[in-house]
Amino acid sequence: MIQSASNFHVAIIMDGNGRWATQRGLARSEGHRAGAEAIRRVVRAAPLLGVRILTLYAFSGSNWGRPASEVMELMRLFECFFRAERAEWHAQGVSARAVGRRDRLPTRLLKAIEEAEEATRGGDRLRLRFAIDYSGQDVIVEAARRLQEVRVPDREAFSRLLAEAAHSSLEDATVDLLVRTGGEHRLSDFLLWELAYTELYFTSCLWPDFAVKDLEAALADFRSRERRYGRVPEHIAV
Ligand code: IPE
Ligand code: IPE
Ligand code: MG
Repeated sequence: MIQSASNFHVAIIMDGNGRWATQRGLARSEGHRAGAEAIRRVVRAAPLLGVRILTLYAFSGSNWGRPASEVMELMRLFECFFRAERAEWHAQGVSARAVGRRDRLPTRLLKAIEEAEEATRGGDRLRLRFAIDYSGQDVIVEAARRLQEVRVPDREAFSRLLAEAAHSSLEDATVDLLVRTGGEHRLSDFLLWELAYTELYFTSCLWPDFAVKDLEAALADFRSRERRYGRVPEHIAV
């Protein structure tokens, strides 16, 4: 166990599936399939390593700009994945949820997501969140629109609206550690508001190669950080 906090939250930008496949002379879709295996490994290991909330970036709002065939394959893969995993998630005490827009997803995928959410509701070992059709900027714009109707438009109200706009919840709003695989050092429109004081960890490991030891390495690195929140060390509340 590395953390006892009941809300220790790790978010991962799972990048590098396409390059993993290309290096092997395979179609990009094979990389996405191998990426699904990496998700299974990480979901099994995460609660044992003290992770209580795990948010995985699976499809960004900008990913709609990829070739239609790749988008279609990804949507099918997500649907199969939600259907195939929900019994194990339930057995393992994992509650699954999708965050992001829902109105542009294929009906079959939406149904698979809703069924998995229903079947795993109440799982309290790990809250597993898949960011699908997610855009940090879009969520902020939507929350800003709704803020005009709020009596006290403060940070907390904004956070609540942000959570609502992304089908998320307020308890999941703070991220402790962000991991990005695939070697790029950017956020690609992921949780922009929620990452305000998050520790960032970048690795060149391509997502399909990401193993439990890589998650352990990221967590060990996190433990070595001093989170100051703008203060000086002796004044940091424990
Ligand atoms: C991440 O891998 C998966 C999605 C964005 C859906 P990529 O498909 O972006 O892989 P690379 O970055 O091209 O290697
Ligand atoms: C970010 O990866 C999105 C996901 C991992 C789902 P991308 O591959 O889409 O991001 P860019 O294009 O490198 O910024
Ligand atoms: Mg990529």
